[in-house]
Amino acid sequence: MSSFLVTGADGQLGQCFRAVAAEFPNHHLIFTNSQEVDLARPETLQYFFDTNPFSGIINCAAYTQVDQAEEESEKAHQINAEGVQNLVNFTEENELFLVHFSTDYVFDGMASVPYQETDQCDPINAYGQSKYEGEQRMAQAKCLHTTFRISWLFSPFGTNFVKTILRMSKTKEQLEVVQDQWGRPTYGMDLARAVLSHIDHPTFFDFSCYHFAQRGATTWFDFAQKILGLTKSPCKSIPCTTAAYPTAAKRPLYAVLDTTRIEKHLFLQPLRWEVALEDCIKRIEAG
Ligand SMILES: NC(=O)c1ccc[n+]([C@@H]2O[C@H](COP(=O)([O-])OP(=O)(O)OC[C@H]3O[C@@H](n4cnc5c(N)ncnc54)[C@H](OP(=O)(O)O)[C@@H]3O)[C@@H](O)[C@H]2O)c1
Repeated sequence: MSSFLVTGADGQLGQCFRAVAAEFPNHHLIFTNSQEVDLARPETLQYFFDTNPFSGIINCAAYTQVDQAEEESEKAHQINAEGVQNLVNFTEENELFLVHFSTDYVFDGMASVPYQETDQCDPINAYGQSKYEGEQRMAQAKCLHTTFRISWLFSPFGTNFVKTILRMSKTKEQLEVVQDQWGRPTYGMDLARAVLSHIDHPTFFDFSCYHFAQRGATTWFDFAQKILGLTKSPCKSIPCTTAAYPTAAKRPLYAVLDTTRIEKHLFLQPLRWEVALEDCIKRIEAG
């Protein structure tokens, strides 16, 4: 049985790994939160390893406050770049493997066809910049490693677009939602299953980066429409433009990830986003 440390396990993606862990009895997952293992304090990792040895790390920990990062770029850098370097150093020293997650925000969003793993990165906000620096640290790691770039993460856990729309639709008659940003939502449960079902595969670490997102591109507006439709909400969604809703951090307008590499190399078929969304809503409604 292989033992993996899951860092940042109280966050959205970490909770997805917790939720699917029982489906993978051959893996022993050890979940830690930021108090137990702090990426910015590598001694916490060493201390934890000494008492709970493991063969690899699945890093769900990150600084993820996209707008706040504009004012806290040093903090974002400390966790998303330096913290990742600490993980890389540790995994190299102990001959472990490392799985990490990054974001579509490493791209500038000016493309008109889906982004491939090899396309040039040019982040347009501080969070994206810090995540890109983390990716670069990962790419230079001398241990077995790979980074999953994901986008528009949603799940029954934490804070995400689906949960926000569900909550707001209960008290508002209409919601304005941007219709000029394109992407592919990533369902955390589908992602966690994809990682855990392939992590022992001999070719899993062949590439240092994979894109993973649900099949089908959409806009935030269409995503919201589908959420409201599936829950039969009387709340209406009204399309608006990104320009009408300025945020502290700029968002890429086109952030559609091409997932051909992972589909062909690991024989993985992500669910369509509508199917994944239905599953997510059922889980949320079931409590
Ligand atoms: N959410 C999205 O839409 C999205 C999109 C693309 C990519 N991603 C990437 O997906 C991954 C998971 O995101 P998520 O949505 O699950 O994030 P999240 O819900 O914000 O969870 C991140 C977790 O990391 C922990 N953390 C923060 N600083 C830490 C540190 N120094 N040491 C250890 N743990 C620390 C946080 O704990 P505390 O709360 O205790 O600080 C939190 O539990 C991240 O790499 C993120 O960049 C997310």
